[in-house]
Amino acid sequence: MGIKSKDIISAVDLTREDVEEILSQAEVMLGHLERKKRLNKLQGKILATLFFEPSTRTRLSFESAMTRLGGSVIGFSGTEGTSVQKGETLTDTVKNIEKYCDCIVMRNPYEGSARLVSQAVDVPVINGGDGSNQHPTQALLDLLTIKVEKGLKKLKVALCGDLKYGRTVHSLIYLLPMFGIDVSLVSPKALSMPGWIMEDIEGKYGISPEIYESMDDVISWVDVLYVTRIQKERFPDPNEYERVAGSYSVDNRLLKKAKHDMMILHPLPRVNEIKPEVDDTPYARYFKQSFYGVSLRMALLDLLMGTGGSD
Ligand code: NCD
Repeated sequence: MGIKSKDIISAVDLTREDVEEILSQAEVMLGHLERKKRLNKLQGKILATLFFEPSTRTRLSFESAMTRLGGSVIGFSGTEGTSVQKGETLTDTVKNIEKYCDCIVMRNPYEGSARLVSQAVDVPVINGGDGSNQHPTQALLDLLTIKVEKGLKKLKVALCGDLKYGRTVHSLIYLLPMFGIDVSLVSPKALSMPGWIMEDIEGKYGISPEIYESMDDVISWVDVLYVTRIQKERFPDPNEYERVAGSYSVDNRLLKKAKHDMMILHPLPRVNEIKPEVDDTPYARYFKQSFYGVSLRMALLDLLMGTGGSD
């Protein structure tokens, strides 16, 4: 079992073999979920969910995944009521918590915090998002969605929106080229993909994604439109946010030009970058994507704490 006991901190650390193993285990879990099969693979194991930043899907889908595998969950959402409020350091906090659990999932506003925690504790650590840096489990579930819905083949995927501060795209851009998927980038200039990631991707895969400023430029030929929220909370200056807020939006007018089997993904939450009218079209796959997240997280928890395997 390749990834057993490893931490899941960054998409950059994952090999194609790791990703294939995680996705195939996630498909097994998806089958169990769809048949509503009861599993006890992680009975007696405890997952700690430490969420220092807001979360709906990531925290609850990890909790759901752990519960569906027969395990238990402890944790917090927001630091109110914890000793972090008394000034306890992150490493002191997690050195205690690791004694109460078998695996930690953490979301924290500081870039690099998940790596720091993984170095401080012995239990596996899963990064549920560290600032603008990485969100590897979201990227894995995005890839699972593409695999289940379309197959991992020569697709054209456009990553749109806040490519500067969005951590999901900072992870996903590393996973797509592993499977020969063509990546294009669409954002206002002020929110473009950081140069160091572009250089890293070129060094790693020998590609340099095409850059566009409008979804109109890509809508007629993309297979997957991956839309993201402008990360208001990461802007150092609110005026900078105001300048780009609402700068693009997917609506039925735009979709008139799309390929008939194009699909729209979004890590959610959306603010107004996808109009509600789009939800009822066959292009919208973002709610299904969030459902796939449970099976992906079941697979990860099983690979890190359990036996893996297909039963
Ligand atoms: C994303 C995140 O937290 O980075 N949400 C999620 O985990 N599904 C995207 C976002 O907040 O915009």
